[in-house]
Amino acid sequence: MSLTPPLAGADKVTPHTLLAHKRAGNAFTALTAYDYPTARLADDAGIDLLLVGDSLAMAVLGHSDTLSVTVDEMIHHAKAVRRGTRRALLVVDMPFGSYHVSVENTLRNAIRIVKESGAEAIKLEGGAAQTANIRALTDAQIPVVAHIGLTPQSLHAMGGYRVQGRTRAAALQLADDALALEAAGAIAIVLEGIPRELATHITSLVTIPTIGIGAGPDTDGQILVVHDLLQLTFTSPAKFVRPFADAGTLIREALANYRDAVHARTFPADAESYHAPRLELDTEALAATR
Ligand code: KIV
Repeated sequence: MSLTPPLAGADKVTPHTLLAHKRAGNAFTALTAYDYPTARLADDAGIDLLLVGDSLAMAVLGHSDTLSVTVDEMIHHAKAVRRGTRRALLVVDMPFGSYHVSVENTLRNAIRIVKESGAEAIKLEGGAAQTANIRALTDAQIPVVAHIGLTPQSLHAMGGYRVQGRTRAAALQLADDALALEAAGAIAIVLEGIPRELATHITSLVTIPTIGIGAGPDTDGQILVVHDLLQLTFTSPAKFVRPFADAGTLIREALANYRDAVHARTFPADAESYHAPRLELDTEALAATR
């Protein structure tokens, strides 16, 4: 049972809400979350979409890329995010390998993610090659967010994390991919690591919302990895990241202060201790009972 059951009424963000934002020209917000407290804080802050991204692998689990994270690990973290999410649309990434074998296998994995985690939509990476999967998931009433451009699961095929769509041919291919994903039933498309001009073009080309990350300011919504936004990372940030706080420094300072206070015996103070005034401990008698 969730401590914070999803809202039922008009305030709950659904795929229709995102579409309404696009049509009205209102920018909407999306953020990754991998645990209960982050989900609660982001949901309370009015973030519209929470993504349990496979960036879990790097941001939280300490892997060097996203490829190794499993369906079980995604579900484990998504359940925690579910417990902290009331208003936002909850989207969970399908990890690498969970939608690459067959459409039937994709369906089985996606149904598991939805049933076990409470995800309201799933996200998968790839262009026109993913249309069969997206059709099958959409037919099964599972809303799908697509993801094109710099797709981290294609790290090796791309030859590294490189901005995509920089040549005319590559840009046209991505625009065609976006149209194919829309036709297959995707409810939104994440555009990652592409030139601003191309993101603007794709956003006006499709009728479904686009969500940008490293794609300039003209997409319908924006998404960031929460650890980048809070500066809870150990590598230098990508060009598109704006740290909105320095939680890393805050935590380092707090930990150093705790360490020093314990060493100096100033923590805990008497005010932080429990008392039993009538309990007169006779230390000599106690020692004798040993
Ligand atoms: O896994 C993730 O965090 C993502 C976002 C960067 C879009 O896919």
